[in-house]
Amino acid sequence: MRLIRVKDYEELSAVAARIIAAQVTLKPDCVLGLATGSSPEGTYKQLIAAYERGELDFSQVRTVNLDEYVGLEPTHDQSYAYFMRDRLFDHINIDLKNTNIPDGMNPDPAAECARYDALIHSLGGIDLQLLGIGPNGHIGFNEPGEAFSLGTQQIELTASTREANKRFFASLDDVPTHARTTGTREIMQARRVLLVASGANKAQAVKGLLSGPVTPHMPCSILQYHPDCIVVADEAALSAV
Ligand code: F6R
Repeated sequence: MRLIRVKDYEELSAVAARIIAAQVTLKPDCVLGLATGSSPEGTYKQLIAAYERGELDFSQVRTVNLDEYVGLEPTHDQSYAYFMRDRLFDHINIDLKNTNIPDGMNPDPAAECARYDALIHSLGGIDLQLLGIGPNGHIGFNEPGEAFSLGTQQIELTASTREANKRFFASLDDVPTHARTTGTREIMQARRVLLVASGANKAQAVKGLLSGPVTPHMPCSILQYHPDCIVVADEAALSAV
């Protein structure tokens, strides 16, 4: 695991965007695993800026997002499908047909999860997986539990994750109770992992990520075993290490 210490969120976003830009430049048809939430927003802004300067071409890039809430239409402004268009896809020259997000509306969860795993496989796996980290150590929506997850699955969001995400919704009741997420196995199979962590509320999770025991109770800790994992973390996120 390689740790890049940065001062703040702005520097974190610039560093992460440069690593993704290198991937896109060196392999124009690469498969990017993408995340949503506050953590990657600045990175996406930097990628858009690089695209606008004519430095990046996304026309052949393929993407697979980590997760989606169950029960939100892609047009819902808190769906991750909407987030990706709003924060990145609508601002670069990516072909929307090359972008993929789990379908949170498919009434058959098992079929949808199997479809998504087959899709990742058919793309040849993920070249670079961008990750945020939950305050409880989740990656994707792989919540703390008794075992690391294998394959895309529908999970019940923990009370703490719903609480953490309620800032995006009118009330806690509006936060979906379930999500579909690629598994820890799929994240570990990515050829490179890039995790960005910012803010004091991530400090305990970052401690578990960098130096804690490898345990499914701290899902991010498995990344200690990944052969090419880069962590970009700011001072506040590193305050417990
Ligand atoms: C989002 C995702 C989650 C978030 C995590 C942190 O696609 O998979 O694991 O990365 O919940 O969220 P933020 O960045 O909003 O603090």
